Amino acid sequence: MTATDFTERDERYQIRVRNLHKSFGKHHVLRGIDLDIERHKINIIIGGSGQGKSVLCKHLMGLLKPDEGHIFVDGLDIVPLNEVEMNGVRRKFGMLFQQAALFDSMTVEENVSFPLREHTNLPRNKIQEMVAEKLAILGLHNAEKKMSSELSGGMAKRVGLARAIVLEPEILIYDEPTTGLDPIATKNVDNMIAETAQHLGVTSIVISHDMASTFRIADRIFMLQGGRIVANGTPEEILDTTNEDLRVFVETSGTVKFHGQPSMGGAV
Ligand SMILES: Nc1ncnc2c1ncn2[C@@H]1O[C@H](COP(=O)(O)OP(=O)(O)OP(=O)(O)O)[C@@H](O)[C@H]1O
Ligand SMILES: [Mg+2]
Repeated sequence: MTATDFTERDERYQIRVRNLHKSFGKHHVLRGIDLDIERHKINIIIGGSGQGKSVLCKHLMGLLKPDEGHIFVDGLDIVPLNEVEMNGVRRKFGMLFQQAALFDSMTVEENVSFPLREHTNLPRNKIQEMVAEKLAILGLHNAEKKMSSELSGGMAKRVGLARAIVLEPEILIYDEPTTGLDPIATKNVDNMIAETAQHLGVTSIVISHDMASTFRIADRIFMLQGGRIVANGTPEEILDTTNEDLRVFVETSGTVKFHGQPSMGGAV
């Protein structure tokens, strides 16, 4: 597969990954990833701990460089880009990191306005207005003056998301947004992802261990195992899968029931 195969833009996909490889020393983590991320949809990546989900997502926004392979963002291969060229592409992305990664010494408002202060020359009142709007969307309008260190886990996730969306990205990556949250906070975060996708029209990429959440909100589910995407389908297709690893992984969660015996059709 060569870069030229994908230079023509396909509007359906915002990101296309081909034959992506990454090793850390002798540890070959990504072993030929092929992945098509659909525009405006909620794309969920599942897979066991240490399989390379976070590493894959860091590649998508150019925070890591692969050893081999291509990543096309809106038809442009970002792998050969230098840091300056990459900055333009990164502006398309917002990321909610696995740890919410807020600045403890800042208030909620300061955390959320940080990307605007760093990356734009907007006047103070415009920044305040944009921050207030994002906080309102996420039900945080009364929390502006709170210190980040005072927030509960669920609230910190919402502040992290407010910060991720404040630059109005086209693509939002969520790395395990519901880990460590109680069932109600988890549902709230699910709703928040679905509503953000709907209201802002973003392309969402969610890494998740949470099968109930995954089946509740995904448009498409991908399973990463052994360094490759081994299964891919809509939730309905996944429930018909014949892939034994996928069935075991999903069934172990105890929250999702498959459709009878594996059929011969469906995903994968
Ligand atoms: N910067 C790095 N240097 C060396 N090894 C790394 C680095 N980043 C990740 N790894 C290794 O790559 C593998 C995949 O890590 P990754 O964080 O992507 O897993 P994951 O699928 O996100 O797991 P989890 O579900 O636990 O978050 C792990 O073995 C990890 O130790
Ligand atoms: Mg991870």
